[in-house]
Amino acid sequence: MNKQAPSRVLGIETSCDETAASVVVRNSDGSGQILSNIVRSQIREHQPYGGVVPELAARAHVVHLDEIITRALREAELGFSDIDAIAATAGPGLIGGVLVGLTTAKALAAALGKPLIGVNHLEAHALTARLSDNIAFPYLLLLVSGGHSQFVGVRGVGDYALWGSTIDDALGEAFDKVAKMLSLGHPGGPAVEKAAKTGDAVRFRFPRPLLNQDRMDFSFSGLKTAVRLQAERIAPLGTKDIADICAGFQQSVTDIVARRSEMALIRFETEFPEHARTLVVAGGVAANKEIASVLARVANEAGATLVVPPANLCTDNGAMVAWAGAERLALGAVDGLDMAARARWPLDDISMAVGAK
Ligand code: KG4
Ligand code: ZN
Repeated sequence: MNKQAPSRVLGIETSCDETAASVVVRNSDGSGQILSNIVRSQIREHQPYGGVVPELAARAHVVHLDEIITRALREAELGFSDIDAIAATAGPGLIGGVLVGLTTAKALAAALGKPLIGVNHLEAHALTARLSDNIAFPYLLLLVSGGHSQFVGVRGVGDYALWGSTIDDALGEAFDKVAKMLSLGHPGGPAVEKAAKTGDAVRFRFPRPLLNQDRMDFSFSGLKTAVRLQAERIAPLGTKDIADICAGFQQSVTDIVARRSEMALIRFETEFPEHARTLVVAGGVAANKEIASVLARVANEAGATLVVPPANLCTDNGAMVAWAGAERLALGAVDGLDMAARARWPLDDISMAVGAK
């Protein structure tokens, strides 16, 4: 474990529909602590449109970001001069929003003479469990959010191997689309989970795409279409029908995630035979209790440890960005003011494998 001086990092997140800022401390022993974590969700602004409208999101970030940063510092009881570095999401995400956060971070870094760290949003999700649970490398990451569904072998900071991903929709996206076709509102994940609680999971049997194939990729598009066809077949839908469809969909999804995770844990054991197996779930879908409980069973049966960070650290937030910034700062991996915002930025494409072990 590297020993460094403790650092306090301000993190800014604006890549989708949350305007967020946070201050975290990274202690010299590598553990972390959240001093503040302020999130302003734009859910209400986007609700009438049934999804996130990029232009509206960017404008709302412009309006609210200054105040959110001020609140994050106030709650941490710190001033700008107490901060050691400024981190902001530099991608992937909606480019207008990413530009707002990254440009603000650049301005702060330049004015205060502090280092800037442009954080990959997926890396921020990937490293969150080290902040919440202080876990060591390597570990297996299942990242399931609105934009991504992937298995990643996490070997160190900036050192990621993509083992499988979705060939069409992301899992959170599938939840959101199913919710939309059932008029459950946006975001769909929590609404589908809530409706599924009272539903009968065996009334409808939906497909489990790719389930029996020997690969770690996901496909959710066919499942989504099957849900739509079923809903059309029994329309008009009553409350019970909606609950049953949600329960059947969620059952299908949990079966897929469970099977894939079993395979990924076997691969982890092959690649890291000397290391304890840890399965980390990150991204907004990790807030789903049903999925978390199925993964707990899979991990238990495989003799692995499951780590699910608290829900407020699984959905988009500033603390994960500040933390990824602190991890990079500890390794001297800072960025120039010419750092570009990127709409697309795959996790295994992070150029500098800084490789902390
Ligand atoms: O990580 P996140 O906050 O934003 C992205 O970077 O995408 O993930 C948001 C996604 C949305 O698709 C949302 O519907 C899904 O996470 N989600 C859930 C739940 N809570 C949020 N999906 C299933 N069950 C939930 N309880
Ligand atoms: Zn995210």
